[in-house]
Amino acid sequence: MVRYRHQLVITNKKEKYKMKIVFATRMGNTDELVRQKLGYTDAMLIVDGSEKVDGDYVLFTYTDGYGEVPGVVESFLENNKAGLKGVVATGSMVRHADTFAAAGDKIVKDFGGVLIAKVDVQGTEEDHAKIKSAIVAL
Ligand SMILES: Cc1cc2nc3c(=O)[nH]c(=O)nc-3n(C[C@H](O)[C@H](O)[C@H](O)COP(=O)(O)O)c2cc1C
Repeated sequence: MVRYRHQLVITNKKEKYKMKIVFATRMGNTDELVRQKLGYTDAMLIVDGSEKVDGDYVLFTYTDGYGEVPGVVESFLENNKAGLKGVVATGSMVRHADTFAAAGDKIVKDFGGVLIAKVDVQGTEEDHAKIKSAIVAL
């Protein structure tokens, strides 16, 4: 099991994130969104879903199958129901318009939390700014 420290991420003097950031990635897009575009370098990677997170967190996940929540993310959520506060789902508008980033809708419906954003691949700068402000405001 891989564990990362992922407590307080300060990207500049104005932005403080109390939330822990947790993410799942298969091809690397969500990883790049979280750690590079958004700068959450201490985010925790979901590897097999058995990970435990203490306290409140925001989940970033890709969408799988036909608008499905990835299996490892489903397992992770079952193990960490209490702390989920927000969800960002990635997907592909070009390839999967009908089920675009639908993992986000399903997670919020089944586990709660706020749907912060649905992001096409790694998102735009506008997406990144919205996500950051939403997370600060949680
Ligand atoms: C088998 C498969 C099924 C997918 N199904 C969907 C889908 O239903 N809806 C969607 O928006 N994107 C879907 N995608 C696209 C991924 O969610 C998208 O490429 C995402 O950026 C992948 O994130 P990752 O690189 O972090 O793994 C699918 C991709 C694959 C490979």
